[in-house]
Parts: sequence; structure tokens; C-alpha cells
Amino acid sequence: MPAILVIEDEEKYRRVIGLHLSGSGYQVKATATAEEGLKLAGEVDLVLTDLKLPGMDGLALLEKLRAEDMHTPVIVMSAFGTVENAVEAMKKGAVDFLPKPFSLDHLTVVVEKALEVRQLRDENRQLREALGQRYQFENIIGRSPAMQEIFSTVTRVAPTRATVLLCGESGVGKDMIARAIHQHSPRKDRPFVKINCTAIPENLMESELFGYEKGAFTGANTSKPGKFETANLGTAFLDEIGDVPGSIQVKLLRVLQEHEFERLGSNRTQHTDVRIVAATNVDLRAALENGTFREDLYYRLNVVPINIPPLRERKEDIPYLVEHFAEKFAGSISEGAMERLLAYHWPGNVRELENVVERSILLAQGPTVEAGDVRIDGGQRAKPAGGSAGDHFLPEGMTLEEYEQSIIREALKRANGNKSQAARLLGLTRNALRYRLTQMGMEG
Ligand SMILES: Nc1ncnc2c1ncn2[C@@H]1O[C@H](COP(=O)(O)OP(=O)(O)OP(=O)(O)O)[C@@H](O)[C@H]1O
Ligand SMILES: [Mg+2]
Repeated sequence: MPAILVIEDEEKYRRVIGLHLSGSGYQVKATATAEEGLKLAGEVDLVLTDLKLPGMDGLALLEKLRAEDMHTPVIVMSAFGTVENAVEAMKKGAVDFLPKPFSLDHLTVVVEKALEVRQLRDENRQLREALGQRYQFENIIGRSPAMQEIFSTVTRVAPTRATVLLCGESGVGKDMIARAIHQHSPRKDRPFVKINCTAIPENLMESELFGYEKGAFTGANTSKPGKFETANLGTAFLDEIGDVPGSIQVKLLRVLQEHEFERLGSNRTQHTDVRIVAATNVDLRAALENGTFREDLYYRLNVVPINIPPLRERKEDIPYLVEHFAEKFAGSISEGAMERLLAYHWPGNVRELENVVERSILLAQGPTVEAGDVRIDGGQRAKPAGGSAGDHFLPEGMTLEEYEQSIIREALKRANGNKSQAARLLGLTRNALRYRLTQMGMEG
């Protein structure tokens, strides 16, 4: 039975909250001051504290708890109109806030969520140990400690409905992880709706996200559900969340907080049960500082942050990724080629590595990619140390793809359409040729 400490100076509040929580099956301790509460905080699973207290206030309490390295989650309650304080409290480590007055149902939800997050944190550590040697999570590869940690977080958090914020440069795997979270959740048979916030123009965003009624605006000849309605009971993946304009941020906050929205042109409030996963490749904290991103929305999204480091900061993943892609593209990679791949800094991260491996396999001289076959940077061969490879080895006016296709066509012609023979002529495996033909739309 989880234990909850309630710190509230107003006796009436303290009593009602205490009764409600013990009625819900929690063990409750209650105090009127933070000083007293501090002594009990280590013995409970959750602290629920008022912000404004005589003597030490809620913020000071949070600081003390951190200073003493106590990880008991804290929910703060604050009177209406003091959102700034609540945000301040979240920054100091509070897991959630309850604006007063709140309903007891709302209290239950917030308490359950906070306890869930706490349990996740505890289990994460155990799981990391158990995972030990696992370098792959579904089709996501990673043996670096950072990726191992991410796998265990995903495993723990996926089954809950906690909001996840994925941060990382382009090509590090944010999409993949968002999908893995959905796949490992009880919502996996429900929709996974990806919303690319950059791709939707600002004036269309509201209707895209929340839908509209007939006649809501010129051209709205029918009514249409929005992405959040489509995603109901499933997962909404908000990609490039940093690009959401302020007017929409308020509405997203409402979805996250109250699970409510209205279609454009309607005043019927809809309730939605959507799990939110958001992603960004910019540092949202900078956007917070210059005021383009709302703090309250940020703290709502950042319940479970997952930071995916760039590939250059986890080079130990490269050999495993390369082997994985080599298998996918039916080729093999020599040690010399691997060294080349390890030496590069991968500004385009895993996406770029995948492309380079694919291209190198397809254009290699023999069945194995040798160091000289590695084609980094838009299809050109890696420059050999000390010299420069011919920059203009492509026939005038031809793209790499066109050139490649012309060679493949030529080989097929010479082999009278026999694919095994054409593959031999090209120095490719049959699989690699077949794969390439599929890519070119020439298979079958
Ligand atoms: N750990 C990994 N294991 C295997 N493949 C990966 C991994 N990470 C990324 N990839 C591959 O790299 C490509 C890019 O990944 P993804 O689309 O998930 O990146 P992203 O972070 O969402 O990028 P962007 O910010 O540009 O949207 C995908 O084709 C994916 O298959
Ligand atoms: Mg993406």
C-alpha cells in the first residue's frame, strides 16, 4: 500500500484530502508545516504539498529534498493564479501540480500518475541490469550505455500512458523509438498518428489537429475529424513540437491537461484518451528562454524525457549498426571499410550511416565492401588519406542513381536478362541485385 504525505496548513483541506486518499487505499500521513513534513518525507512514496505554507514554503521544501538527495516524488498544490509558482516548482523537481481548487477525481489521477512514474524509475535500474547483453530492441540497434538506458526506459514507460519527449538531432532514431513505444503499449492495435508540426501551415494547424464542422470557415463544405480524434485510444506522435505556434500550444496544453478540445466551429467539447509522444531536434530550453515555447506545455510534455545522443557520441554503436544494415542490404563489410566508417563524424547520424552502407554495398567492386568502396558524402568515394579521389567520375549530366541504373541495365542486356549472370558481371550478390532492381521498380 503506497504511503502519501500531505503537507497542508489549512485544516479543512488537509482533512478532506487525507480522507479521500485513505479511502482510495493509500496510507496517509498529514502535517501542517514543511518542517515537520521534511522529517517524514523519506518514509513515504509520494509527497503532496501546498506551495504557500507558514515558515518553510513548498519551494524551499523541494530544494531541501534535492539537497538531501531524496527522490520521493512531490506534487505541489497551488492557489488559482499562481501558475508561475507552479512552473517554478516543476523546475525544482516537482513531478506535477494541482491548481486549487481541484476535484478529488483530478487528485486521484495526478497521484496515480506520479506513483507510476516513481515505480518506473525504480524498475528502470533493475531492468538495466537484467537487460545486460541485449544490443537490440526490436529493430533498433544500440549497445552504447546511452542506448541501453533508452531501451530500458522504453520498456518501462511504453505500457503506461505517460507522456514522452524525445530529443535528438535529425536521423538519430526518434521516429523509430516513438513507434516502439506505441508497439509496446496496450494501445498497439489502435492508431498511431504522426503529426509533423513543421509540415502543416499555421493557418491549417488547428483544423488539422482538432477537426472542423461544416461551415467553420470558407471552403469547409463538410465536417471532418482532426488528428486527435483519429488518434483516440491510440498514440499521437507530435514530431518537431518546437515548431508549434503559440496559439496551438495553448490548445495542446488543454489536451494534455484536461484531455479536452473542440472542433473548429463547434462548441461541443470532446474528451479524448490519447497518449502523447513528442519529438524535437532543437533544444526546447532555448525556446523557453526566448519565450517562443510555453513553459507549462514544456513541463507537461517532459514527463519522461528521452535524449538520444548523436551517433558521433556513441561510436561503439557503429559496428553493430553497420552489420545490421549490411545484412539488410545483402552485403558484407571488410575491416578496412569499417575503420573508415568509424572514423567519420556522421552529421546525418544513423540515417546517413544507413544510406552510406547501402550505397557502398551496391556500388562496391566485389562482394565485400573494401575501404576504397566506402562512399561517404552524397555518393562519392571516401577520399583516400593524403589525396583526392576523382571528383568527376560520373558521366556528364548523370546523377549517381541514373548512372547506376544504366550500368545495371547494361549488365542485364549482356546477360540476356539472366539475373544471376548479371549479378556476377556486376560483382554483386544475387540478393543485392534483386534488392536494387526492386528499388528501381524493375523487379518481376
Ligand atoms: N538505433 C537504430 N537502429 C537501426 N536503425 C536506426 C537506428 N536509429 C535510426 N535508424 C534508422 O535511421 C533512419 C532515421 O531514423 P528516424 O527517422 O527514426 O530518425 P529521426 O530522429 O526521427 O530523424 P528526423 O529528426 O530527421 O525526423 C531510419 O531509416 C532508421 O531506420
Ligand atoms: Mg523523425
